[in-house]
Amino acid sequence: MVMIRYEDDEYACEPGETVLECLERHGVSVPNSCRAGICQTCLMQALEGEVPPEGQSGLKETLVMQKFFLACITTPTDDLTVALPDAARVRVPAEVLEKDPLAPFIVRLRLKPKKKYDWHAGQFLNLFHGDLTRSYSIASLPDEGFVELHIARVPGGKMSGWVFDELQVGEAVEISRPQGKMFYVPGRPEQPLLMIATGTGLAPLYGILRDALKQGHTGPIWLYHGSRVAEGLYLRDELQRLADAHDNVHYRPCLSQGEPPEGVTAGRPNEVALAEHPDLKGWRVFLCGNPDMVKAAQRQVFLAGASMQDILSDPFEPAKD
Ligand SMILES: Cc1cc2nc3c(=O)[nH]c(=O)nc-3n(C[C@H](O)[C@H](O)[C@H](O)COP(=O)(O)OP(=O)(O)OC[C@H]3O[C@@H](n4cnc5c(N)ncnc54)[C@H](O)[C@@H]3O)c2cc1C
Ligand code: FES
Repeated sequence: MVMIRYEDDEYACEPGETVLECLERHGVSVPNSCRAGICQTCLMQALEGEVPPEGQSGLKETLVMQKFFLACITTPTDDLTVALPDAARVRVPAEVLEKDPLAPFIVRLRLKPKKKYDWHAGQFLNLFHGDLTRSYSIASLPDEGFVELHIARVPGGKMSGWVFDELQVGEAVEISRPQGKMFYVPGRPEQPLLMIATGTGLAPLYGILRDALKQGHTGPIWLYHGSRVAEGLYLRDELQRLADAHDNVHYRPCLSQGEPPEGVTAGRPNEVALAEHPDLKGWRVFLCGNPDMVKAAQRQVFLAGASMQDILSDPFEPAKD
């Protein structure tokens, strides 16, 4: 008999029963409306187990890849661990494997989730500490075996201050399930990719860039990384090595204030990128970091011809506790 696990309880599913019917029969309430696979109110996510393809009909590719499904039309053939889409609140225990400086004010954390954890490089998670919840983007690929975060110290920042000053290697932390749609979707290996980041907005793009290469992307990939200070252009040597090793990868570190050192371009990364690529018709664009930069760049790349569905962004909005 197929079993459905939901919030630490396990329910037996009768033959021919949908996930929605099974959960309701056991007194679990799941939002629903049409019960016919149309309205998507009953959207759930499989955290473990395989969802039959008919349970995902009509869902966007990014949702399908994250194993979302419609509970009202999914008749499971495999045991499933399921959750409502609010992955933001699910807490997964993890251990701090490594904590290293990437710059005087940026730290790299590598975490080992203690439960099965599927993600796409470029998504973000929530880190919990006491009453605090803050989002951080994932820089690593699943086959690297750890979740890598790049965290900048914000003056007076509660979470970043704790990470810098107190959090130790070996300590236990709690993270949410991964969220967000900013990641590499295979299928158009020749499409030109434009990536623009400021500060630790580099973290997801560093992951997406390496994921694209791993998945055989052959089109040009241009990465523009901006900072106000030269030390903020972290991972510079590694990114340059990636560019040297791949003819299709181009890396432009940009300094928005002061005299740039050798090999660094003066200016804001979005402005340097748009000056070099005024026609973005057919490109896919990834924008991340400072919310003002992301907002300005969204407009600029759209006016340069990129279509709305090809512009993916994660502005690092400060939390409103
Ligand atoms: C989707 C998403 C992904 C994110 N990914 C990352 C990431 O990969 N790496 C990363 O370092 N951060 C990331 N952030 C930002 C992160 O979630 C926190 O906002 C940041 O770490 C500050 O939290 P804090 O508790 O240290 O500061 P808080 O205690 O929240 O803030 C302290 C003070 O600083 C102000 N402040 C907060 N953030 C900034 C800022 N960036 N610049 C100037 N002032 C600020 C606040 O308004 C407040 O006055 C992301 C945010 C989002 C929404
Ligand atoms: S309830 Fe409408 S799609 Fe499932």
